[in-house]
Amino acid sequence: MATVFVTRRFPGNALARIAAAGHTLDLWEEDRPVDRDALLARASVADALICTLTDRIDGELLDACPRLKTVANYGVGYDNVDVAAAAARGIAVSNTPDVLTDATADLAFALLLAAARRLPETMAVVTEGRWGSWEPAGYLGHDLSGATLGIVGAGRIGEAVARRAAGFDMEVLANTSRGGTPLPELLERSDFVSLHVPLTPATRHLIDADALARMKPTAILVNTARGPVVDTDALIAALHAGEIGGAALDVTDPEPLPADHPLLAAPNVLVLPHIASATTRTRTRMTELTVDNVLAGLAGRPLPQAVPVP
Ligand code: GLV
Repeated sequence: MATVFVTRRFPGNALARIAAAGHTLDLWEEDRPVDRDALLARASVADALICTLTDRIDGELLDACPRLKTVANYGVGYDNVDVAAAAARGIAVSNTPDVLTDATADLAFALLLAAARRLPETMAVVTEGRWGSWEPAGYLGHDLSGATLGIVGAGRIGEAVARRAAGFDMEVLANTSRGGTPLPELLERSDFVSLHVPLTPATRHLIDADALARMKPTAILVNTARGPVVDTDALIAALHAGEIGGAALDVTDPEPLPADHPLLAAPNVLVLPHIASATTRTRTRMTELTVDNVLAGLAGRPLPQAVPVP
């Protein structure tokens, strides 16, 4: 029977299905990502790996794992896995698409609304005892209805964001690698820009100083994709210069973002700790999907959510 190294604690009970199938579970039980040495050591005797975005699965690691046949990555993004290197060694890789689409789109909208209506700033007014009186000209934000939302990367999550935008009577522009509104035009016309591209060499720093300079000075940038899609230094400079109106980010570069990072000192920034898929139902479904893929791999079947090999 096989050994499965599980690099984190994952919500739900689905891992029990692996044990019930007679396989051995080697669980990382700590409340922090597995460190590199432990990952190398424990994966080296595993037939399958359940890992996530904080684990770097590269050629060095794969070379240290002669028995490994399946890498089931918990998360829709899999930029932490060198898929080509895995394929070259006969190792299949899966992710957890679909089950987190709605939760992620919801959070993109939560960020959009929170930034548009200045929720963190106005909550602080109340909690810090600065709520003097109701002011007709106080805390004015931006309307969503009638505003233009630019969606960069209109895959499953981008499309779910577009559906939500329709309910808010927004005009939607979408850019994908295959077409739609050209990115420069989308950036120039949008009141809100929401990022939904995977992190690849082509999308790293897609939103750089030039892109930010194209945006309206009132526009709000929302990122629930991956931090490095945005050039953090350029974003900080653009916020200080008033080139854009604000940024609402679930993902940052680096992650975790230190509390003294200059991004947090820039004006009109809202940062969350990468929680887009963090609902009980969604994270539980992600575990179930991950386990489905591991069991398929251990049975010698194709992975139902195999990721494409580049
Ligand atoms: C989370 O960021 C994911 O890729 O699922």
